Amino acid sequence: MKPVIIGTAGAGYAARLHGNGYKAVTGIPFRLKTICDLNTELAEGVRRDFGYESVTSDYDSMLADPEINVIDIVTPPFLHVPMAVKALRAGKNVICEKPLTGYFGRKGEEDIGHTTPRSAMYESVMAAMNELRDVLRETGKRFMYAENFVYATPVQKAAEIIRAKRSKILFMKGEESLKGSSSPVAGKWNRTGGGTLIRTGTHPLSGMLWLKHQEAKARGEDIGIASVVADTGTTTASLTDYEHRHISARPEDVEDYAAVTVTFTDGTKCLTIASDTVLGGTKNYIEVYANDTALTCNITPTDILSTYFLDEDGLDDVYIAEMLPSKLGWNKAFVSDEVIRGYSGELRDFLEAVAYDREAESGFDIAYETVQVIYAAYVSASEGRRVDVK
Ligand SMILES: NC(=O)c1ccc[n+]([C@@H]2O[C@H](COP(=O)([O-])OP(=O)(O)OC[C@H]3O[C@@H](n4cnc5c(N)ncnc54)[C@H](O)[C@@H]3O)[C@@H](O)[C@H]2O)c1
Repeated sequence: MKPVIIGTAGAGYAARLHGNGYKAVTGIPFRLKTICDLNTELAEGVRRDFGYESVTSDYDSMLADPEINVIDIVTPPFLHVPMAVKALRAGKNVICEKPLTGYFGRKGEEDIGHTTPRSAMYESVMAAMNELRDVLRETGKRFMYAENFVYATPVQKAAEIIRAKRSKILFMKGEESLKGSSSPVAGKWNRTGGGTLIRTGTHPLSGMLWLKHQEAKARGEDIGIASVVADTGTTTASLTDYEHRHISARPEDVEDYAAVTVTFTDGTKCLTIASDTVLGGTKNYIEVYANDTALTCNITPTDILSTYFLDEDGLDDVYIAEMLPSKLGWNKAFVSDEVIRGYSGELRDFLEAVAYDREAESGFDIAYETVQVIYAAYVSASEGRRVDVK
């Protein structure tokens, strides 16, 4: 077993998700060596809370550390590909957050969601991903894609069933919707690479692509993506300021609604829905309809614990549900959320992949296909046509 020694780039929200995931892993010797962020105060907080040994603001010096053999990239998406390329060339294995990449515009390019043709965006992201794929092949290092939906416990169970029965999945439907991100950068294409589709739809899309791969492997079939048809829109544009009051999404040049149909090369389909305007708490699910089974993966909310409160006394530090402004009335509480949503399983798989020198369940192909489908979807929605994917 190889020792796993981790350097993490980025000390924001996702670094804490990963930190909690690492904390839950037992039985694999690993060290959280360095946490790197331009904001060293933030990095210091993550060091203290999760037990990293040192802090730096210099990514290159972390790469120069010969002990570190895994770089965990949890920086904003525009940095993922350049940071991954550098890490691979420095001989490190890479864990990378979602989305793998996107189109963020060239220097000085503003308002790109309104002005840049989607076909130019598609070409640009494919070029970046192909460059990364070449570097991966040259270096022979591992790329682990931190898509927690792959490791969500209901999705893992659905995969076990599909593999055991060698089912043919005919149609899947997956959704991640919420009342919008409160982050101001979520409304700007040049910061996020798109809107709700790339921020949230990416999760169920990757989960479904992974399930289709599981089917293909179990049946000994070669199944790829044939085409993409999509519709996107900015539905909140119709609201007055007052009517907008419960919805956090403030899209400037991005979509707040997307529906994307992928047709696979065997003629079967999957539908991804993403919206930034859904009240009632975060909605995450994947439904699988196969020739011999129907499976509903309820990721959030689940139905393990229902809670009812007339007041919130004593509940200040009790986490009940995401994206709900109040704990009053009936709620479906989030229980073991980090396990059910896949964060613990994800980090465990990545540590094992490096320690035992094997592929992670969520690797480069899922990351690549997801971004390819998303940008093909943007082309489809803007040009009103089916886009063939090669
Ligand atoms: N899987 C999930 O559920 C999930 C949830 C949230 C975020 N994410 C993903 O995680 C990534 C990070 O998101 P976040 O919410 O943590 O963002 P964040 O803004 O909270 O954190 C990003 C951090 O990166 C740091 N950073 C920026 N440039 C840097 C550089 N050159 N060197 C070192 N540090 C640098 C910033 O200072 C910031 O602290 C994104 O790709 C996002 O899509 C995934």
